[in-house]
Amino acid sequence: MKYKKFDTLAIHAGESTDPHTGAVDTPIYQATTFAYESADEGAERFAHGTGFVYTRWGNPNISALQEKIAALEGGEACLATATGMAAVATTILQLVQSGDHIVASNYLYSATNTLCAKYLPKFGVQTSFVDTSNPKNVERTIQKNTKLVYIETPSNPALQITDIKAITTLSKQAGLLSLIDNTFATPFNQKPIALGLDLVIHSATKFLCGHGDAMGGAVIGKKDLIEQITKGMHRDLGGVISPFNAWLIARGIKTLSVRMERHNRNALEVARFLQRHPKVERVYYPGLPEHPGHEIAKKQMVGFSGVMSFEVKGGYESGKRTVNALKLCTQAVSLGDTRTLVCHSASTTHSTVTPEARRAGGITDGLIRLSVGLEDPQDIIADLDQALG
Ligand SMILES: Cc1ncc(COP(=O)(O)O)c(C=O)c1O
Repeated sequence: MKYKKFDTLAIHAGESTDPHTGAVDTPIYQATTFAYESADEGAERFAHGTGFVYTRWGNPNISALQEKIAALEGGEACLATATGMAAVATTILQLVQSGDHIVASNYLYSATNTLCAKYLPKFGVQTSFVDTSNPKNVERTIQKNTKLVYIETPSNPALQITDIKAITTLSKQAGLLSLIDNTFATPFNQKPIALGLDLVIHSATKFLCGHGDAMGGAVIGKKDLIEQITKGMHRDLGGVISPFNAWLIARGIKTLSVRMERHNRNALEVARFLQRHPKVERVYYPGLPEHPGHEIAKKQMVGFSGVMSFEVKGGYESGKRTVNALKLCTQAVSLGDTRTLVCHSASTTHSTVTPEARRAGGITDGLIRLSVGLEDPQDIIADLDQALG
């Protein structure tokens, strides 16, 4: 029987009872290489990819994770990678060649921005960064040699929203591939493939894993595109996820629905509290009606996920003082964990970026990113209240 509902797929997709022991979930295949019975069988595996050969080429735990993520995103296939950045880099490097041009959001995750701005030009690939919250900016930036459009919505860390449907439509009209980083939303809240996007990318390190204990990445889309990336750059560059991490992330995904429901609910409550607080200048959370992208977010998201940013009055020093005073919320980078994580962007993740470049990306001096965890929201609010006080 083929199950279709998200909650059921999160648990059952990709999993199979172990034929040898009856273990109900996929065991961990902590192996680098797989024996074959004869040279002919070896030749068959090499030629047609039937069965496993070497973990850089594939592994039962990686396959199980790929099947699960593809099912949840509604894609034909998925490639799981060692980290989110391995997914971003491997995918883009496979799809572009010297002389190509990319149109990308000017508020991408910092390492994705660095890949496009610093490394791709070494291989003759240029990127134009535009504010994709206005799709017209994308349309007028497309050139004859543009190959793909890359967006991130909601974006990290300032939570800008881009209209996925509008980007899909204009990419298709121009014959371009469209890519999205769906890390913040997760497939529970947002399904870009159903809206026509070609490739969905994740840092699976975040909400998909959900417990802050494994790094991983994923790219999901049509079978032929994923096969091209898998058999091309991925195998040769080698950004392969370990079987154990694949297993941990697959285990985390089984509770994705219940976790995301709670992340959505807690974050909205915390955002409303912060919005009313006299020491807070502004809250960036797409779930608030005052957010400029709220109406579009409402159209394309089921819930608004667990991450927000807020700006404290008093700038840089005040931002640092506030995070230093927190007791329950942990100062750390990353997001999507069970515990609430907090980070003053200007003094940490974006400290090497000039203040002007920071401001262009919406990162003001007092900006604090908050990944609201699964604790009781009243405890999170009480901690924020005492720190702001
Ligand atoms: C939106 C987004 N995309 C990609 C990445 C990169 O993921 P990883 O750290 O798993 O390489 C991150 C990491 O924070 C992220 O927040």
